[in-house]
Amino acid sequence: MNPDTLSIAAKGLNTVIALLVLPFGLTQRHRPRVHIPVMLTAFVADVGNVLLVEYVARLGHGKGAVEEGLDAFTGGGTSLQRFHIIVSVASILGYAVAAITGSRLYRRGAGRNVHRANAVVFVFARYASYITSFWM
Ligand code: HEM
Repeated sequence: MNPDTLSIAAKGLNTVIALLVLPFGLTQRHRPRVHIPVMLTAFVADVGNVLLVEYVARLGHGKGAVEEGLDAFTGGGTSLQRFHIIVSVASILGYAVAAITGSRLYRRGAGRNVHRANAVVFVFARYASYITSFWM
């Protein structure tokens, strides 16, 4: 498929996750039967989107997004690009921590404060990644 079309699809998916799926999942945070599948859907969709961006970057200019991300630290690359990479990696890690702490909270009712604290860091990182993605 045309790289431009795929790139628009990736941006659209990013917007749907950031403006619809995550806010809805957060409003359902006291209803685990809704909250958990919605947040896991956002996790899978975001990882899928990273793979899509990687693929589009390879189609466009040979290098993948991950390789370009590493280049941004070792060679050229602006501060904004480096910031975007850091908050994007932090959001994926935030999902992983949410899945671990969230399942412990669900099964044993333990670690609510850790799950909540991770949510604050995650929300900052995920929206910083979304906002800076417009300049990438
Ligand atoms: C990035 C993804 C996620 C975010 C940002 C997030 C955020 C939150 C927040 C803010 C709360 C309310 C905590 C409080 O103040 O009481 C909450 C509750 C909860 N979350 Fe998550 N969550 C995420 C993913 C998950 C996942 C993947 C699971 C399970 C595997 C999960 C399980 C729970 C449970 C069980 C509760 C408590 C619900 C209750 O009050 O009964 N969360 N979450």
